[in-house]
Amino acid sequence: MGKSTKKRARGPSLAETSDRHRLYELSVQCPEAEVDFVDETFRRLRGRKPHLLREDFCGTAGVCCEWVRRRRSNWALGVDIDPRVLDWGRTHNLSGLTPSQLQRLSLLRQDVLKVRTEPVDAICAMNFSYWLFKDRARLKRYLRRAREALAEDGVLFLDAYGGYDSFREIEEEREVDDFTYIWEQERYEPISGGLICHIHFAFPDSSRMERAFSYDWRLWTLPEIRDLLEEVGFTRVTVYWQGWDEDGEPDGIFRPAEEGEADAGWICYLTAER
Ligand SMILES: C[S@@+](CC[C@H](N)C(=O)[O-])C[C@H]1O[C@@H](n2cnc3c(N)ncnc32)[C@H](O)[C@@H]1O
Repeated sequence: MGKSTKKRARGPSLAETSDRHRLYELSVQCPEAEVDFVDETFRRLRGRKPHLLREDFCGTAGVCCEWVRRRRSNWALGVDIDPRVLDWGRTHNLSGLTPSQLQRLSLLRQDVLKVRTEPVDAICAMNFSYWLFKDRARLKRYLRRAREALAEDGVLFLDAYGGYDSFREIEEEREVDDFTYIWEQERYEPISGGLICHIHFAFPDSSRMERAFSYDWRLWTLPEIRDLLEEVGFTRVTVYWQGWDEDGEPDGIFRPAEEGEADAGWICYLTAER
């Protein structure tokens, strides 16, 4: 009798058993830092605490959840067009809130270009989500509507990235807990400014989750964004640039700045005051 040809049954790979939204939250997001920035900056600009926050392109609603956890007087509205991502947020994030926190949070399955909400103190649109508006007219329409949705002294919070590496077709890896986060800029097209990017994840068992998330964006530059914000009527636009620590690494502290540096890759925040 020949040798058994049976193969040892192998379990599913780490890529097959991992949840892409959880991996995204672990590798890309830091709602605590974002809420710290929004809360402290709003107080500095307006001399009062903000209460009602709208998180546009909220995805799994991490920022909304952190917002209502912060203070009993905080309320949050999360807006996203994709019912599946909102459902994931409800199951995995909202489920950890207390009844009082839950009562102060609403998720709206709507298009940010059409949604109507009561006047809010702050709107945040983070992780460059507004870059999916690839032409000037559509981005301008979004920014105008965001301004109209703010209370009299409301503030819009955005982020942006750039630097000479942002125009290159490259891959960057970063170790996160027990997996690797891979950011791929697959295609940059200089005439339209179009940028196709992907997030992949790699695991210690050599399995990979390819294109867990893909983005079809325009790589907007800060002067373009600032001009558009001013054109739609925001009274003051501020860019917040990151400092350096003693090891020459970004220090995570964003300060108002008139001038930045020509780094390979930078991330900044912007505020636009109604
Ligand atoms: C890059 S994710 C951002 C997730 C989260 N805000 C963050 O900071 O990581 C972009 C989200 O925008 C949502 N989205 C895309 N177009 C939209 C639109 N027109 N209105 C509302 N949400 C939209 C997608 O469903 C997706 O969840």
